[in-house]
Amino acid sequence: MHRKDAAPLARGKLNSHSMISERLQALGSKTRLQYNFKLATLAIVALFAVAALGKAKLRTESSTRVRLGFRLFQDARFSSPQGDLQNSCSSCHLQNEDPQGWRVHTDFFARSWVPFRTGDPRRDELRNSPTILDAGLMPRLHFDGEFTSLEALVKGTLAGRPMGWLPGEEQQAFERVRKVILNDQDQSARGDSSYRAQFVAAFGVDPDKLTASQLAEQVAQAISEYMRTLKSRRTTAYDRFIQANALDGAPAAGEDSKSFAARLLAKIDKLEESRVLKLSSAFDADALSGMKTFFRTEGNRSAGNCVMCHTPPLFSDLSFHNMGISQSEYDQVNGEGSFGELEIPPATQARRPSPQFRETPSRQKPGCADLGFWNFVDLKATGFRRAGESDDRFLQRMIGAFKTPTLRNLSFSQPYMHTGGFTTVESALGELMRLSEMARAGKVREGDEELARIRITEADIAGLVAFLNTLNKHMTSRKY
Ligand code: HEC
Ligand code: HEC
Repeated sequence: MHRKDAAPLARGKLNSHSMISERLQALGSKTRLQYNFKLATLAIVALFAVAALGKAKLRTESSTRVRLGFRLFQDARFSSPQGDLQNSCSSCHLQNEDPQGWRVHTDFFARSWVPFRTGDPRRDELRNSPTILDAGLMPRLHFDGEFTSLEALVKGTLAGRPMGWLPGEEQQAFERVRKVILNDQDQSARGDSSYRAQFVAAFGVDPDKLTASQLAEQVAQAISEYMRTLKSRRTTAYDRFIQANALDGAPAAGEDSKSFAARLLAKIDKLEESRVLKLSSAFDADALSGMKTFFRTEGNRSAGNCVMCHTPPLFSDLSFHNMGISQSEYDQVNGEGSFGELEIPPATQARRPSPQFRETPSRQKPGCADLGFWNFVDLKATGFRRAGESDDRFLQRMIGAFKTPTLRNLSFSQPYMHTGGFTTVESALGELMRLSEMARAGKVREGDEELARIRITEADIAGLVAFLNTLNKHMTSRKY
């Protein structure tokens, strides 16, 4: 370019200086422009190519990770050889492995079975296994919010009681995972199905070069990516009803659940008045009446107040509330009113998480209870804390608080509540009705204030169940 620019300059000696410089400038900028244009085009093409390649690579890496995660999820060889059960994630999070029918990655036990170890005679999990559909959307996992990411949950579970490991055996657990992965043999004719080959494809690193902890990190990533693909269907009878009537399926940005519910009910009333509300055989008058109870937050009759915590579209506010379920189980074992008298230390003295307060109540273990989120809540967590609340008041309020479960697919996730103490939706709702009456009488220790605002009678339960049944969607299993 310098040479080209130099030539006209020499010839231009004949012309007036200013003309030359003008032409030169025009010429120079033109070639420069062309050149820059070509360069830019090339750069853009190259960028697109790189981006496309990168994307394709990312996509294959992501799908190989999901496939790998699916396989790891079902592998029972990771559990402790010292336990009496060979568990995999899918032992307790079943989908279609059981002849009793399709599940949303839950089992049929009130409390899942963990492998027995002589060092810890526990046979049952602390809680009922919840669905893991939509777990990828939850900022906190487990009923008590123990984990803040799927990856942390996977590592904790692989090295924990569900897989037959005792506290302090984490390194042993991860060494075992590593051994299983490195010793895994090719199953296919193509020879690309061993864990080793799958890890290379998914992460671009030979697992042989990783420490047990580094490999556990990748295992956690793969299983988490698989779980993020597990989503509830948004094509249930309820979702179709919302769509057919052009209703809003979620609060608007910044709108609270109460205003959202009032707005939704007002719109339904208006459509009914004009006789244009569309019902169907899958979403009939019973479901509609239950839906109104579910969304009604005001009044003394048929006001379920459910929407305050079970907020659409997930039917969970992803928050924690004390519904009195722990108290009710504790009192059944230790006598009516005993939970109210249980000594629970104030914030300054509480050692959390606490083995005493993260336990299933039983006569053999007097004073042991499950206080849920109380064990893990961060006292500085501004999202849960009210303005001006002291550490102690805040912590007391978290007694017996558990994560609001989704209400989608209840037909495939019984039994219910963190205790698994209720085999039908009717019985679970009957208990909520009873506890709401107790809360109004001031008899639920630190009961959530929205619990006291549930105002339903026996007559409302059939409608509520009809409505909840419109939130089920059978899903056929996917192949990975
Ligand atoms: C022995 C049975 C058992 C095994 C094995 C098991 N789980 Fe769970 N899982 C449970 C129970 C019980 C809970 C509820 C725990 C709690 O809330 O305290 C749970 C909770 C979860 C949750 C949280 C869902 C939510 O909404 O908070 C996820 C995700 C999960 N498990 C994934 C896994 C993965 C991944 C594995 C394998 C690494 C696994 N589980 C192995 C029983 C099991
Ligand atoms: C204050 C918040 C709140 C309100 C109001 C509320 N729930 Fe819940 N609901 C929860 C929490 C939290 C749990 C889990 C409690 C536990 O296991 O300790 C739960 C559990 C349930 C379960 C069991 C789900 C499962 O998978 O185990 C059902 C069903 C249910 N609620 C339905 C309703 C209905 C219907 C209403 C209205 C009549 C309602 N809830 C009102 C917070 C609430």
